[in-house]
Amino acid sequence: MPVHVVDHPLVHDALVTLRDAATAPELFRRMAVRISLLLAAEATRDLPVSPVTVRTPLGPAEGRRISADVVVAPVLRAGLGMLDAVLELIPTARVGHIGLQRDEITAIASQYYAKLPRDLDRSVVLMIDPMLATGGSAVAALDLLKQAGARDVRMICIVAAPEGVALVQRQHPSVRIYTPVIDRELNTHKFIVPGLGDFGDRLYGTVDADVPATGR
Ligand code: PRP
Ligand code: URA
Repeated sequence: MPVHVVDHPLVHDALVTLRDAATAPELFRRMAVRISLLLAAEATRDLPVSPVTVRTPLGPAEGRRISADVVVAPVLRAGLGMLDAVLELIPTARVGHIGLQRDEITAIASQYYAKLPRDLDRSVVLMIDPMLATGGSAVAALDLLKQAGARDVRMICIVAAPEGVALVQRQHPSVRIYTPVIDRELNTHKFIVPGLGDFGDRLYGTVDADVPATGR
């Protein structure tokens, strides 16, 4: 499944603000919502629809309504910064939370929480996690979703690394990845370069003053 690199100018305008180390959490959160709206619109371009007729003040008009059951699955904690945007677009979506934490030394992800909706086999699942670095978190989340029955899964991220894309494509070849960019590489701490630092820390202001969100 090819990676969908989203090339919209508004996506890249928001991305550059997210990357800028001078962007404070308030603006970072707003840009995370803006870019997620645009990426989610792209990832849902082919959602099934049903024909409907509504009455305008001037008479009947044919239209289409989304007919798919959509489940959005944020990977905690950084994925929460993308959730409101997706729910703004698809208010009827059900939400499954997946709690994963990368070990600071080994960068290996371990699961600390999961609560998924039922009947994922009939849903379009949008897994949201802004950073696809080694791919360990994405593969763990996708394993969980697939074990729970999910079949149509799309991953939306904000910055991807070549290693993460390759791992997801190897382990879950049917999953479509939507990202604005595939960055150059990972550093020795498995942070994306140039990336944007630690997304969760920048979103929630948990960066230590003397330790920038760069993976130390
Ligand atoms: C970040 C990010 C991804 C993961 C990506 O989360 O949100 O989930 O790292 O890295 P990987 O591709 O190498 O697995 P982190 O574990 O730092 O947790 P947080 O969201 O709570 O900050
Ligand atoms: N997680 C982040 O938040 N940033 C990275 O660069 C890698 C993992």
